Amino acid sequence: MRETENEAWWLRKREELLEIADQNLNAYVYDLASIERAVKNMLSLESVSRVLYAVKANFNADVLRTLAHAGADFDCVSPGEVDRLRDVLPDRADGRVLFTPNFAPRDEYEWGFNEGLRVTLDNLYPLKAWPELFAGQEIFVRIDPNKGGGHHEHVVTVGAQSKFGVSLDEIDELERLVKAANTKVIGIHAHSGSGILDPGNWHSVAMELLQVATRFPDVNVLDLGGGIGVPAQRDDPVFDLDSLDSLLVDFRKSHPQYKLWLEPGRYLVSGAGVLLTHVTQLKGKGDMRYLGVSTGINSLIRPALYGAWHEIVNLSRIDEPATESVTVVGPICETGDKLGSDRTFPNSEENDVVLIANVGAYGHVMSSRYNLRDIPPEITI
Ligand SMILES: Cc1ncc(COP(=O)(O)O)c(C=O)c1O
Repeated sequence: MRETENEAWWLRKREELLEIADQNLNAYVYDLASIERAVKNMLSLESVSRVLYAVKANFNADVLRTLAHAGADFDCVSPGEVDRLRDVLPDRADGRVLFTPNFAPRDEYEWGFNEGLRVTLDNLYPLKAWPELFAGQEIFVRIDPNKGGGHHEHVVTVGAQSKFGVSLDEIDELERLVKAANTKVIGIHAHSGSGILDPGNWHSVAMELLQVATRFPDVNVLDLGGGIGVPAQRDDPVFDLDSLDSLLVDFRKSHPQYKLWLEPGRYLVSGAGVLLTHVTQLKGKGDMRYLGVSTGINSLIRPALYGAWHEIVNLSRIDEPATESVTVVGPICETGDKLGSDRTFPNSEENDVVLIANVGAYGHVMSSRYNLRDIPPEITI
């Protein structure tokens, strides 16, 4: 039985959040129970045998520990991410890691194999240029399935405009290079984009990967990647996990020799994170009404980078009627320092606490000290 929440956790825990905001000008807050619930929901899928959390989405230590205890494994894209996991998980995490570097230098592949990690190859170049590294190794190969999508062009990871994956028209050459290097391909991998809400996507990807897998007799895993979307607005329908499961169960019935893995980042952590900040100033200019808060795109770049929409509320006045339309801006010296445009807000005052929702993924990890502003601390509850 999958658990769902009728009300956002941050409404239920409003008093606790206001207390945290009392002590911190700005702060990322993560609700660990939400992460645990999301992992359990995904692990309950009958069709999926492993869920690998994409560490890039959020590498906070408590978040990683929670994911590990709930049963997630891990996808790492750099040695730094592997090191982070090793620091955080005392029982050594290596057996739970898939290492998927991309356009990385030779040394990183050598390092991955020497450390005993399961390595994913995402381009033919390493096999051609450094076949000696791959001799006797068992690897995953990342394919560009030419099917996918995403919430913004920057996160679509298929097609010629995307740098990722071995193209379907390179499979003959892949087969030849794998034989020449005396390598075994044991898994076929794809990640088709981010923020995809159609459960049919992963079934289409599985069908594409199947075509490739049949060419390599040692393959026993199809890793269908991440990209599972989360609703931007509280009233939007949530991702239909049941429908994903029934499509993939059908696939497994026809192709039981392949285990299916998923690699979600956003789905497991996005909703668990909020950014708390404070109203600094208010201003009218022409038709515009600006509501200033104490941190900006240095803490949360997604609205500027992807045009991402995040719910923003005045947490201090959550029960007051929303009466005016404001654009929420931070203190960063950029016109693009807008966290949200045309938001209806109650009459707000300096020092009110403002909450930005759904920032547990690709939030703090993408923050910077631009303008030499401080990066908010991360607090887990
Ligand atoms: C290889 C790989 N796997 C998984 C993910 C996770 O994607 P998401 O957070 O959209 O689930 C990404 C994201 O870029 C990725 O590159």
